[in-house]
Amino acid sequence: MDSFIYSILIISILVFIIIRLILFFASKSCNGVPQKRLLLAMLSLLFPNLDVSVHDRTAEMLERSKGTIHIHQYSWFTGTKVLLTSDPANVCHVLSTNFSNYPKGSKWREHVDVLGDTLFSADFKEWEKERKTVRSFTSHHKFHQATTKIVWDRIQTGLIPVLQHASKLALLVDLQDLFQKLILDIAWMTSIGYNPNFLGIEFRKDPFSVALEDACEAAFSRFLMPHSLWKLHRWLGIGKEKKLKHAWQTIDRVFADCISKKQEESAKGEDHQEGCNFEGVYCVTGEDKAFRSAATRKGLRDNIVSFIFATQDTTSSVLTWFFYSVAKHPSVQAKIRDEIFKNNPQELNKLVYLHAALCETLRLFPPGPVLSRIAVEPDTLPSGHRINGNTNVVIAVHAMGRMTSIWGDDCHEFKPERWITAQGEITRVSHYQFPAFSAGPRICLGKELAFMMMKATAATIIYNYDIEIQEDHPAEPKSSVVFHMKHGLMARINSRGT
Ligand code: HEM
Repeated sequence: MDSFIYSILIISILVFIIIRLILFFASKSCNGVPQKRLLLAMLSLLFPNLDVSVHDRTAEMLERSKGTIHIHQYSWFTGTKVLLTSDPANVCHVLSTNFSNYPKGSKWREHVDVLGDTLFSADFKEWEKERKTVRSFTSHHKFHQATTKIVWDRIQTGLIPVLQHASKLALLVDLQDLFQKLILDIAWMTSIGYNPNFLGIEFRKDPFSVALEDACEAAFSRFLMPHSLWKLHRWLGIGKEKKLKHAWQTIDRVFADCISKKQEESAKGEDHQEGCNFEGVYCVTGEDKAFRSAATRKGLRDNIVSFIFATQDTTSSVLTWFFYSVAKHPSVQAKIRDEIFKNNPQELNKLVYLHAALCETLRLFPPGPVLSRIAVEPDTLPSGHRINGNTNVVIAVHAMGRMTSIWGDDCHEFKPERWITAQGEITRVSHYQFPAFSAGPRICLGKELAFMMMKATAATIIYNYDIEIQEDHPAEPKSSVVFHMKHGLMARINSRGT
C-alpha cells in the first residue's frame, strides 16, 4: 500500500515537472546560465542517482554567472525565491555585516526538528542566550583538557585495537563507519562522561550514527521540496519522512539508554573508568548547575543530541574524505608521514603539513555543502543583486572550494602546499572565502576541537598503518545536509610494525 501511494505521488510530481520543463525551455537564460543547466542541477538534487554531480554543476554555473544566481524561476517549486551565491563579498554581508537581516528562519527549524530546540535552530535573542551558554563551556580550559584526554584515550584503547585486529585478519573495513563510531564514543564521553563503546572488534551495529545519517538525508530532502509536499509525505508516512520517524525513535531510545546507564554507573561509583575521571562537559566546567537546574529532560536531550550531531557527522566525514584523498596522492601521504616521524604523533601543533592536508580536504569536501539563510527585509547585496524579504540566500560552500576565481586554475587539485606560507606556517584564509566552519557571529564553536580530533586520529593511523583503499571503490557523496560518502570507504589496514 505504501509503495502504491508512493508511486502515484512520484508519477504526479513527474508529470508536474515535465510540464514545467517545457515552460522552462521556452524561457530565456538566467544570469547567463542556460536553463538546461539549471534544470539538470535541480533534477540531480531531486534524483541523486542520476549520473550528474550536483555540487560540481553548481560550481560550474556559479563560475559562469560571476558568483551569484538569482533563481526566481524555482519559487513555484520550493515556495521561496532562492539566491545562490559563492561571492565572498556577499558571504561577508550575509553572515556578518548585515547579520541581523539573515536568520536561519522558521523553515530551517522545521527541517531539522529532530535536533530539538537548540543553538542550531535558534535565531535572534534565543540564539544569543544559547550561544553564550554553549560558548562558556567550549572555551573553558577544562573543556580542552578533558576533550584532549578523552580523544587520546579513545584512540589508544578503542581505535588501535580495532585496527590491529583488522590488520591481523586482513579484514576489509569501512573507514567511514569506524570514524563515526570513534567520534560518537568521544562525543558521548565529552557530553555526559559515559562511553557507549560503539567502537570495538565485534564491529557492533551502531544505530545512532545510522539514525543521524537518515535524519540528515530527510532534512536535505525537506530543504529541496515544497513545504506542503514533505508535510504530505510525513502525513502519509512515506519516503524519507518514514525513515526520519524511525531515526527519531532510535535517537530518543539510545539517548534514554545512555543516560540511564550513566546514572547506574554514577550510583555504583563506577564513572571513573577507562581514564574518564570526570563527568562530561557540563560538570567539568561548572556550568552544569545552572544548566541542570534550568533544563528539562527534553532540554538535556536536545542539547546532547545537537552536540553529538555537530561533533560526529562533520568530523567523521572530513576524516573519511581525507583518507580517500591521501590514498589517491601517495606523495602527500609520504610528506605527512615524514613530518610525523620528525616530530611525534602527539605533538599536534608541530604537524603543519598534516593540518594543511586537512584544510585542503575541508576545501574540496566541506561536511556542510551549503549554508542557508532567509532575508527578513529587502536588501541589496554587494554584488548588486537586489532581493526581496523572504528570499532564501544559499551560500554554496562546496562550490566555493572549486572555483578558479577564488583558488586559481589548480582549484580541482588536492594540494596541501597551497595552505603553507614561505615561513612554513598555515596561510590565513578569510572565512568569507572558505566558510567550511561558517563565518561571522555564528561561526562554528568546535573548530579547535575538530582539528585536534582529526589530527590525532590521522597522525596515529598514518604513523602506524598503511591504508589500502579498495580498488574502484565508488567515492560518491550522499544527497544529504552532511557530505557523507554514499557507500562508505572500504579499505584494508596493514600494520607498519612501528
Ligand atoms: C570538521 C568539523 C566541523 C565543521 C566543518 C563544522 C562546521 C560548522 C558550520 C558550517 C557551522 C554553521 C552551521 C550553520 O550556520 O548552518 C557550525 C556550527 C556549529 N558548530 Fe561546527 N563544525 C565542525 C565541528 C564541530 C565540533 C566538533 C563542535 C563541538 C563543539 C561544533 C560545534 C558547533 C556549534 C555549537 C555550532 C553552532 C554555532 C551557532 O549557531 O552559533 N562543530 N559548524
